[in-house]
Amino acid sequence: MLNSDVVRTSLQKTSRRNFLKASTAVTAGAVAGSLSVARSAHAAGDEVLKVGLIGCGGRGTGATVNALNADKNNKITAMADAFGDRLENSRKQLKKSKPEQVAVDDDHCFTGFDGYQKLIDSGVDVVILATPPQFRPMHLKACVDAGKHVFCEKPVAVDAPGIRSVLASCEQAKKKNLSIVSGLCWRYHPAVRETMKRVLDGAIGDIVAIQTSYNCGTLWHRGHKPEWTEMEYQMRNWYYFTWLSGDHNVEQHVHSLDKSAWAMHEKPPVRAWGLGGRQVRTEQPKYGDIFDHHAVVYEHANGVRVYSYCRQMAGCFNDVSDRILGTKGRCNVLKHKIEGENPWQYRGKGGSMLEIEHQELFAAIRSGKPINNGLYMARSTMLAILGRMVDYTGKAITWDEAINSKQDLSPKSYAWDADPPTKPDADGKYPIAIPGVTKFV
Ligand SMILES: NC(=O)c1ccc[n+]([C@@H]2O[C@H](COP(=O)([O-])OP(=O)(O)OC[C@H]3O[C@@H](n4cnc5c(N)ncnc54)[C@H](O)[C@@H]3O)[C@@H](O)[C@H]2O)c1
Repeated sequence: MLNSDVVRTSLQKTSRRNFLKASTAVTAGAVAGSLSVARSAHAAGDEVLKVGLIGCGGRGTGATVNALNADKNNKITAMADAFGDRLENSRKQLKKSKPEQVAVDDDHCFTGFDGYQKLIDSGVDVVILATPPQFRPMHLKACVDAGKHVFCEKPVAVDAPGIRSVLASCEQAKKKNLSIVSGLCWRYHPAVRETMKRVLDGAIGDIVAIQTSYNCGTLWHRGHKPEWTEMEYQMRNWYYFTWLSGDHNVEQHVHSLDKSAWAMHEKPPVRAWGLGGRQVRTEQPKYGDIFDHHAVVYEHANGVRVYSYCRQMAGCFNDVSDRILGTKGRCNVLKHKIEGENPWQYRGKGGSMLEIEHQELFAAIRSGKPINNGLYMARSTMLAILGRMVDYTGKAITWDEAINSKQDLSPKSYAWDADPPTKPDADGKYPIAIPGVTKFV
């Protein structure tokens, strides 16, 4: 699907996104890259691997604990967050839970929008990327340029230019023998792995349809302080702004769409259409500009349809499940169960997928046999972005149109006094997408 024009556009695009210290980053990255690549091919069993964390929130802190659990010779040596208070909180929690493996002095704590590059340049071997997804393409590119292995949280972008950049960075990582492990954690869940293996091996015959749902309740909100600029308000409450989170069908439902892509042998659909809106989470400026429900149909070339639903509303029926229907049976993926001609229930070992993804990442680094989850993490995120595109515009949009979309959700400048891409009007209301009116770009 990806032609050379697309790759070229993505590279030009990425360099524009990386306006922050672009030239110094490239020079430092080139030098650091050549050193770490040699090292990355193999790290001796007891050699300390230095981990850096970018995005010190709930998941970043948790992922760091997983990384430190994975290998007693791992140490976290640097941390970066847009906000000092978030970083300090995380550093305290980490010191409490893994005192022997936390070696982050004040000189290795970096804040602001450019902290990520300082962390990358601080001598770390492996970087955990756990900011909101708006920044993932830029941070991933900087890591790969500098020759760092990456644990890359989902989703990996919020728009198609970001996806193209991620695909290019992951190709680059392959050439440099760097590992890129994705936070699409169900791919590392022992029972889900075994279940999906059977589906892919034909236990339910040919797939006819997939129903995938992430219908759940509401989430956090971090309030509004008068001293915050509009940029700080949106960054603190990133979940509710499409340019930062991609909308909840990207931020959260990507887990479900990733399982459908896995079942479809990673083949993208031909096109999608759907519907969505904001019915409950309407308060402004509290709930920014994202929708609170989405329903999308993904049409595949072989006639299979993926019916995808996600909702974030309190007091409703909740269902987080993936059901695959085949000519010889059905699979309930999260119950690890197959019914029909070849009934089966997983009875094997348990294990935490969040720990396993890090165990496999560090084993890959130490053995010099890199893992690269780049293609599926980018494609599954693109599926979710396509879902948002069809719901916001009300149109049917093909995969090719979507992945070549020129819509760039990044702001002109990343600074606390800069304008975010969406701003409230005189009544404090953000513009919201209107199906049938909002244009596909
Ligand atoms: N795999 C999973 O199961 C899972 C679970 C939860 C979250 N996540 C993903 O992890 C990411 C973070 O989610 P979270 O729940 O930890 O959110 P969070 O708000 O708790 O943490 C995000 C942190 O990133 C910081 N940040 C924002 N922009 C930054 C920048 N440009 N540079 C440095 N730091 C920046 C924020 O200040 C915040 O501390 C999201 O992409 C989310 O989808 C994955």
